[in-house]
Amino acid sequence: MDTGNKKETEKMQSPDSDLSEQIKEATKDSHVRAENTKLMLSYQRGQITLPQYKLLLFSLYEIYKALEEALDGNAAHPAVAPVYFPLELARLEHLEKDLEHFYGEHWRDRVIVPAATHRYTQRLRQIGREKPEYLVAHAYTRYLGDLSGGQVLGRITQKSLGLENGKGLSFFSFPAVSSPNRFKQLYRSRMNSIELTKEEKQGVLEEAVRAFELNIEVFDELRKILSFTENQGNALQKQMTASFKTQGGRPMAKSTVPALLASSRFLRLILGVCVALLTVGIGIYTF
Ligand code: HEM
Repeated sequence: MDTGNKKETEKMQSPDSDLSEQIKEATKDSHVRAENTKLMLSYQRGQITLPQYKLLLFSLYEIYKALEEALDGNAAHPAVAPVYFPLELARLEHLEKDLEHFYGEHWRDRVIVPAATHRYTQRLRQIGREKPEYLVAHAYTRYLGDLSGGQVLGRITQKSLGLENGKGLSFFSFPAVSSPNRFKQLYRSRMNSIELTKEEKQGVLEEAVRAFELNIEVFDELRKILSFTENQGNALQKQMTASFKTQGGRPMAKSTVPALLASSRFLRLILGVCVALLTVGIGIYTF
């Protein structure tokens, strides 16, 4: 963790306050930055599209797989046990259900892992092996976020994409949590019961800032992949519109237009997959 984060978290923590208050304070600015990423802003405006949502689900699947494997593997660790709530919080099976809904039973063959998502999962696996006491920072960042702004995002997704009967929305649903607010209170009190040395506590606060940063990098990269594919698609559509008008000076039959647009969508998809594969390739090469 860089020294900038360290100074920031040290400055804000008072020695007596609880971990839950300190972590909220330490990540306040990061939360604002996460909310204001282009992807989250377009989400809040109700501009989320199905390809965006589907790509986001792939990244969330990879992140929760790494997070929940690390939590399961350290369930008895004294810094993990108090905040280990697999029944109430685990997201992996929910994400699998959503992915199967959108991609069919062979969805695993189609998972796309952008480089920033890969970095996030590498960090989760590393701390699962080397620093399990930092897992609370990651569990807090994701699960309390899912129970807070995440619930609003769930409603926006349902409306924007017109998804019926909760299909494809399982990620947002917490059937074993009857009141998110009460559950968050319980979670905070469990966080506060974890015994940590001063150094460990400092490390957890820095890790929480890092967790937000990793999320921001994932959103920024997804946004780049998506805007690239959308721009390519638009450019292609413009070219096609121009070619409709210039075909021997005569307008083309209307019925051919949808077919061409469909093929443009197909090309856009191919381009998207190429960019994603390239990004994954770079990610794997880097690590
Ligand atoms: C559209 C984006 C977002 C919106 C509108 C949003 C909104 C909110 C709101 C309203 C709360 C409740 C604050 C409270 O109960 O006092 C909250 C809490 C929280 N959010 Fe977000 N959020 C967004 C994105 C994120 C992201 C991307 C993350 C992390 C990856 C995140 C992590 C958290 C956490 C950890 C909390 C709990 C804070 C605490 O009580 O300690 N949020 N968010």
